[in-house]
Amino acid sequence: MKNLKLIGFLVIFASSLTFIQCTSDPIMGPQGISGIDGTDGIDGVNGVNGVDGTASCVACHNNSHREPINESYAMSGHAAGGAVGYAGGRNGCAQCHSNEGYLDYLNTGATNPDGYTGQGPVSCMTCHDQHSTFDFENDGHDFALRSIDAEVLYYDGITVLDFEGTSNNCIACHQPRNSYVIPAGSDPYEITSKRFGPHHGPQSTVLEGILTANIPGSVGYPGSGANGDNTHRTGSSCVSCHMGASTDPNTGMHSFWVTEDSCTACHTNGAPAEVTDFTADMATLKQLLMDKGLLLEDNYLIPGTYPNIEAQAAWNYRTLLEDKSHGVHNPKLSKALLKNSIEALQ
Ligand code: HEC
Ligand code: HEC
Ligand code: HEC
Ligand code: HEC
Ligand code: HEC
Ligand code: HEC
Repeated sequence: MKNLKLIGFLVIFASSLTFIQCTSDPIMGPQGISGIDGTDGIDGVNGVNGVDGTASCVACHNNSHREPINESYAMSGHAAGGAVGYAGGRNGCAQCHSNEGYLDYLNTGATNPDGYTGQGPVSCMTCHDQHSTFDFENDGHDFALRSIDAEVLYYDGITVLDFEGTSNNCIACHQPRNSYVIPAGSDPYEITSKRFGPHHGPQSTVLEGILTANIPGSVGYPGSGANGDNTHRTGSSCVSCHMGASTDPNTGMHSFWVTEDSCTACHTNGAPAEVTDFTADMATLKQLLMDKGLLLEDNYLIPGTYPNIEAQAAWNYRTLLEDKSHGVHNPKLSKALLKNSIEALQ
């Protein structure tokens, strides 16, 4: 099956080469489809240019196209795999921290209970595999990604996240582990570990606007999901902000670092680097949590039983800290969480 596909590919590839030889410049395809309008009437980021029908395979499958991808990927923390030695071999960690664990998780729904030895970092073939269809024109491009569908969150095994596109690839790893129950209600809450909070990459749930402890207060919360009130969720995406076109391998593409252009599409005069008051409010909330005896200077928790509202504020603090976007992933939610958590503790 695989060989047949490869032969088919080679045939098309060879004929595409013939095509390229008799034209001096590859012909650009039609403009990609524009992004969907944001809820506030702001246009989404334009799609990437389409590739010409005849040259559709060579457009991606040639060395000069691969070079900048390889160069930019070398700059990514994924390639460096900072925690692959520490976490990539462990059952329960490997699904996000090593190639082997992630592939087992995708293929069987679980990682090896005995763990792994000699595990490697996330690499090209961790995220990519083979095209599910070659009818790109009608089915849209799958970029030969393994995981492009909606994902069920580990947190409860029920909630489905669907970013409707290649950003679904990010969800599997950039979501909280199911380590702790989010404090809610009025009973005292027992914090059992100094690591309390969503481990370690709650980016997709923050963008979606879920899994936070929404303490009531003077600032209203935006709704969640595709019908919510977060333009960064409805009008842009993980991939549009983090994988933008770029000529510098240090930003965009496969470096996964945000490009300025991805912001100026909407913030025409330049985007602010953080949500208004974010740093100041985080410092205030941290001090309040330290004063209440929940938090240490190094941001670890002090295990113990606390009034629920304090545990909620601690959960929100850790969420915004671990999200690492200075509120950008969900500005309205971040503001509401910060202001209302501060009010509640004061
Ligand atoms: C938008 C970019 C893009 C286009 C266009 C594209 N591919 Fe791919 N293709 C990829 C990526 C990314 C991979 C992942 C593996 C890799 O990096 O080579 C891949 C992998 C493959 C593989 C290897 C899968 C396996 O079974 O081992 C084949 C075969 C293939 N493509 C054939 C084609 C053919 C035939 C066309 C044209 C009809 C095409 N591709 C068009 C991006 C593209
Ligand atoms: C659901 C996916 C997932 C699981 C499961 C997971 N991690 Fe992580 N972890 C991540 C992501 C994503 C990051 C990077 C977050 C970022 O850069 O914002 C990360 C970061 C880390 C870091 C670096 C922390 C830092 O502050 O730089 C360590 C260490 C780590 N994880 C250890 C572990 C261990 C140990 C386990 C198992 C007990 C584990 N992880 C399970 C997704 C996961
Ligand atoms: C963490 C996941 C991940 C890893 C690792 C990864 N990619 Fe990708 N790649 C993606 C996603 C997501 C897209 C789709 C981007 C989009 O929607 O525009 C993509 C798109 C592509 C494309 C088509 C778009 C283009 O710029 O032509 C190629 C080719 C490609 N990847 C090659 C590679 C190669 C080669 C490597 C290793 C050096 C690699 N990828 C590693 C996630 C990944
Ligand atoms: C297989 C799991 C996995 C997938 C899929 C994945 N990531 Fe990651 N990502 C990680 C881990 C683990 C880290 C932390 C790297 C480390 O220190 O080991 C990370 C780190 C990052 C970082 C910080 C990078 C740096 O250079 O320090 C960004 C930004 C990021 N990911 C964005 C994305 C985006 C956007 C997607 C989807 C296109 C994605 N990731 C898909 C696991 C994943
Ligand atoms: C509106 C644009 C935008 C969207 C959409 C977006 N991000 Fe981000 N992201 C940012 C910005 C800006 C930062 C902060 C970067 C910095 O500190 O330089 C960031 C930070 C991050 C980081 C931490 C990087 C670090 O410092 O280690 C990760 C990981 C990440 N984003 C992953 C994702 C994932 C996964 C998604 C989709 C669920 C996503 N982002 C959606 C703009 C965006
Ligand atoms: C699709 C359009 C769009 C894109 C793309 C976009 N933004 Fe925004 N941004 C908005 C809108 C609209 C708001 C107002 C809040 C809302 O509606 O969610 C906003 C709010 C913000 C805020 C909060 C400002 C405040 O007053 O506190 C920051 C910070 C921000 N964006 C940064 C960025 C960065 C950085 C990028 C690129 C990585 C980016 N934005 C990309 C539309 C966009």
